Amino acid sequence: FKVPEIHNEPMRSYAPGSEERKALKAAIAELEQTLPLEVPCIVNGKPIKTGKLAKQPLPHDHANHLATYHEADEATVKAAIDGALAAKADWEAMPWSDRAAIFLKAADLVSGKYRYKLMAATMLGQGKNAWQAEIDAAAELTDFLRFGVKYVEELYSIQPPRNSAGSWNRMEYRALEGFVFAVSPFNFTAIGGNLCATPALVGNVVVWKPSPAATYSNYLIYKIFEEAGVPAGVIQFIPGPPAEVAAQVISHPSFVALHFTGSTFVFKKLWRDVGANIDNYKSYPRLVGETGGKNFHLVHKSAEVKNAVLQTIRGAFEYQGQKCSALSRLYVPSSLWSNGFKDQLLTEVAKLKVGPYAEWTNFIGPVIGRPAFDKITGYIQKAKEAGGEILIGGTGDDSKGYYIQPTVILTKDPKSVTMVEEIFGPVITVFVYEDDDYEKTLELIDTTTSYGLTGSIFATDRKALLQATNKLRNAAGNVYYNEKCTGAVVGQQPFGGARGSGTNDKAGSMAIFYRFVSARSIKENF
Ligand code: SER
Repeated sequence: FKVPEIHNEPMRSYAPGSEERKALKAAIAELEQTLPLEVPCIVNGKPIKTGKLAKQPLPHDHANHLATYHEADEATVKAAIDGALAAKADWEAMPWSDRAAIFLKAADLVSGKYRYKLMAATMLGQGKNAWQAEIDAAAELTDFLRFGVKYVEELYSIQPPRNSAGSWNRMEYRALEGFVFAVSPFNFTAIGGNLCATPALVGNVVVWKPSPAATYSNYLIYKIFEEAGVPAGVIQFIPGPPAEVAAQVISHPSFVALHFTGSTFVFKKLWRDVGANIDNYKSYPRLVGETGGKNFHLVHKSAEVKNAVLQTIRGAFEYQGQKCSALSRLYVPSSLWSNGFKDQLLTEVAKLKVGPYAEWTNFIGPVIGRPAFDKITGYIQKAKEAGGEILIGGTGDDSKGYYIQPTVILTKDPKSVTMVEEIFGPVITVFVYEDDDYEKTLELIDTTTSYGLTGSIFATDRKALLQATNKLRNAAGNVYYNEKCTGAVVGQQPFGGARGSGTNDKAGSMAIFYRFVSARSIKENF
C-alpha cells in the first residue's frame, strides 16, 4: 500500500468577522467557562488521580489557573513503564498500515474536529495569540503527524540495493527494545505530540512527561491519540514533578531512548544520569534532544533594510521570543544602522501591542510564568549594569499577567552577557559593526555562544551570503537567507541545531526516525 498524498496544513487567517474567528472565539469562551479543569495521569488508558495536585497557571492572569493536574507518583510511574512494556509486543506487531492509519486519523482530528479546542488550550495555557496558536497547535501538529507517516513509509522502503544470485537481502526496521521517554516543552503544543508520535509510528511505546506549563493542551493531544485508535498503554501520559519522574524513568533497565525538547541544562543533566546508569541497561539508550539557542540575524551592508527590520521584529518578538529558534542577537553594519535601520526598527517595535489573547490586536502576550518573568527582567537589568543602552522597552508588568515590553538593547561589547546567554523572552541585543568588519563579525558570531540552532543572513550581495554560510558552518542548524530565523515548516525545513543546541536529528524530516529503530539485516538463500 501507499500512504495518501500529503501536503502542509493550510493556515487559516482569522480575519475579523470570519467564520474561523467566530469558531475559535466560541472554543475560547467554552474553555473559559469550565476553568479550572482537572487533568489526571493516564496509564493503560485509564485516568489515575494520584491526589498529588499541582496547578497549571494562566500566564495572562496568575491569580487563576487553567488546570489542576494530578502529578505522577512513584507507583504511577512504575505502572506506566510496566504497562508500556506490556503493550509493546502487540503494537510492534500491528501492521504498519494500521499504525499509519491511526496517526493519519489523529492528524485529521487535529486539523478538523479539535482544531479550535486545541488552539484555545494553547492560547490560554501557554499565552499564544491566535496566529501563533494556529501555526503550532493546528498546522505544525497536523504536519508532524502526516509527514511522519510519509517519512516512515520512505524509511521502510530503504533496502539493500544488491542481492547475490539465489539470495534476497532485506532490512527490517525493528522498534527499540524497551520504552522511549518523551519529555516535552511548554512552548510548542505540537512538539509534545511529535515527541510521542515519532517513536510510536515505528512501533515504540512511549512514557510521556509533558511540561507542567502545557499540561492541558498536551492532555488533549493524548485524548486525540486515544480517539484515533492508539491502544491503551502505547503512550502513557504522566505529568509529574520533572526531576523525580525523570530519575525514576531513566534508572529503569528497559529505558531505551530519550526524546527531549527543553533546556540545555536539563538535557545535560539527563545525559549524565544516563551515563551513571549505563551498566543497568539492556541496550545503549538513544539520546535525542533539541535544546537551547542564541540565534542571530546578521545584516550585511547590501541588505534591504525594510525587509530585515520586519523579519527581525517577527523573529524576535512573535510568541514573546519563547521559540527555541527566536532571534536574540542582531548584527547591523553602521552605515545601515544610522541610515534608517535603527529608526525603522524602533518605530515598528513601538507599534507592537502587548496584552492578553482576548484582544485580537495584541502582538505580544504574556511570558509563560513567574520564573520566566524574573529571568528575563533580570537579564535586562544585567544588560544595563554592563553598560547596555535600552533603546526601547525594558520594563515588565506582572500585576495581573507576566507581561514584558518588547525590548531592544544596544551594546558596544559584542560579548556582553545578553549577547551570550539564552534569555527566552522578547529581548534582543544589537551590536553595530563597522561595514568593513564583516569578516571579523562572522568570526564573532561563530565564537560568541555555545549554541548552534538558527541564524539568518540578510544581503542582496550573493558573495556576502556565501561568505557567511561558509564561515558559519556550525553556528546554526537552520540558516535562512533574507528571512527571519524562526518558523521552520515540517516537510520543508528539517529543524534542529548542533553544539549546545542539541543532537541535531532534524525534527520534521526522515532522519529522526532512524534514531528510534534498530535495524536488522536478513539474508535468505533460495
Ligand atoms: N519549528 C519552530 C521554529 O522554527 C521551533 O520549534 O520556529
